Amino acid sequence: MSKENELKEILDAAKEKIKDAIDDASLNELRSFYTGKKSPLTEILKTLATASIEEKKIIGSLANETKQKIEAFLQERRLELQNAIIEKKLRSEKIDVTLPSKKIKVGSIHPLTKTIEEVEDIFIGMGYTIAEGPEVETDLYNFEMLNVPKGHPARDMQDSFYITENLLLRTQTSPMQVRTMLKLKGEPVKILAPGKTYRRDDDDATHSHQFMQFEGLVVDKNITMSDLKGTLNLFVQKMFGDSLKVRFKPSYFPFTEPSVEVDVSCFKCGGVGCNMCKQSGWIEILGAGMVHPNVLKGAGYDPEVYQGFAFGIGIERAAMLRHGIDDIRNFYLNDDRLLNQFKGEN
Ligand code: PHE
Repeated sequence: MSKENELKEILDAAKEKIKDAIDDASLNELRSFYTGKKSPLTEILKTLATASIEEKKIIGSLANETKQKIEAFLQERRLELQNAIIEKKLRSEKIDVTLPSKKIKVGSIHPLTKTIEEVEDIFIGMGYTIAEGPEVETDLYNFEMLNVPKGHPARDMQDSFYITENLLLRTQTSPMQVRTMLKLKGEPVKILAPGKTYRRDDDDATHSHQFMQFEGLVVDKNITMSDLKGTLNLFVQKMFGDSLKVRFKPSYFPFTEPSVEVDVSCFKCGGVGCNMCKQSGWIEILGAGMVHPNVLKGAGYDPEVYQGFAFGIGIERAAMLRHGIDDIRNFYLNDDRLLNQFKGEN
């Protein structure tokens, strides 16, 4: 066979093999097989040593050309294989942007938190400061300094969770009255104290062993019951509606004298009588009164000079009335169906 034909055969065979190569390693093998020191191509070049000048020229350049072509095939196949890998990767990493996305649940502010914020805003607007205190309270502040000494029958009004003989979970936010007065040392007081409270009640639609209250306390010279009434009137109108009225009923709390229970005219029926107000036209919303002289005195205020009023609002009760929720336990179940109704509401 002529050398030209041999070279052509080498080229054809190399072309075929290179086309079938599946990776870089096999391409490298083919490269050394077809162009390396022991390759048939090199063998042909070696035989040229004894060939004529004419043959050297023709076959030499043909052999070089063949080698270049083989290199070009190798390079071409290498790129093909690289592209295939990229292609495959792209295909496997493809994202279908038209697929519906996963829904991320967005929470909402809890109705009780909303109620707290609303009530705080109303009282801040009247010049009150927000005060906070501990839920684990001393017997001294929770009862004794609120004019409820040990053995006082009023202790039975609030069944308590005691931790030690002198420590308990506060049964009311009223200890904040004592704490604030002791802190302000005879200065005028105007605070609103929201927070959790605890009583050993059996849970039902209107009772929860843990609930929340607002304590309001104003102490200054010349404070009268009409200040209390005016304040609560404004609060009720801002919270439940402009046309509503409050009425006071005599009541009893050991730390206020006189004490009152405060009703608001029914915001559902306007006072005519309905299921919400149990046909009475009025709904009880809070307890209040004039701060008892013993409480003022105990906290360092001279009752001959200073007077004060205090009130306690049940936060859950206010929220239930405001939003028509009929079971207090709903606030603590975290059921989406309730909570979602408060989304987007201000
Ligand atoms: N602390 C009382 C209660 O929990 C409410 C109250 C507060 C009454 C302030 C009068 C004055 O029942």
